[in-house]
Amino acid sequence: MSQAATVRDAVCGDMAVVWSLIQELEAHEKLKRKSSVTVEDLKNDGFGEQSSFKCIVAETSTEDQCPTIVGYAIYFFGYSSSWGRMAYLEDLYLKPDFRKKGIGKRLLRTVVEAAVQRCCRMIQFVVLSTNEEGKKFYESQGCENITETEAWHLYRLGPEQLQRLARGGAAE
Ligand SMILES: CC(C)(COP(=O)(O)OP(=O)(O)OC[C@H]1O[C@@H](n2cnc3c(N)ncnc32)[C@H](O)[C@@H]1OP(=O)(O)O)[C@@H](O)C(=O)NCCC(=O)NCCS
Repeated sequence: MSQAATVRDAVCGDMAVVWSLIQELEAHEKLKRKSSVTVEDLKNDGFGEQSSFKCIVAETSTEDQCPTIVGYAIYFFGYSSSWGRMAYLEDLYLKPDFRKKGIGKRLLRTVVEAAVQRCCRMIQFVVLSTNEEGKKFYESQGCENITETEAWHLYRLGPEQLQRLARGGAAE
């Protein structure tokens, strides 16, 4: 079933709501490390001089209510030496009451359309191994689990390691 929802580009003034949805996504993922990104970071990094990400929102409205943002996606463009132009899907989230109505698929499709328009050859993203629903959703849309098919491991240099390495120090 499809629910009446509008998918549109986010504006700077949406970032407080998007920030609260990011907290919901983190709670859903039961992450130990909490986001350090603030509403101001989102405003500056998404809508400042050098924008680092794109954001779209899904909005629903009834006759007697103002439009309400019920979901969002954050993505950005990059480059892969294997594939060429690519997009990275950072977040895709819908409030629980609005799931399984086709809105997630519309958000994903909007990101896909933007990537195709920029001549991207692939979109990459990560899903927690415990997020069975998320994995089923992506697989229903034809996404390949490359941890299974290509055995990739995901690594990170966090803030402290970054600073240490930048100063020439080795990992402890
Ligand atoms: C993942 C998420 C965005 C999907 O959005 P949604 O609106 O519920 O999904 P849709 O209703 O658009 O579903 C689209 C398709 O996915 C399939 N699907 C959705 N959830 C599914 C599930 N739990 N099991 C199997 N298939 C599922 C549907 O069958 C549908 O496929 P079809 O149209 O080809 O039949 C949403 O569930 C969500 O926000 N989850 C929590 C956050 C999250 O896990 N995000 C992804 C990882 S960052």
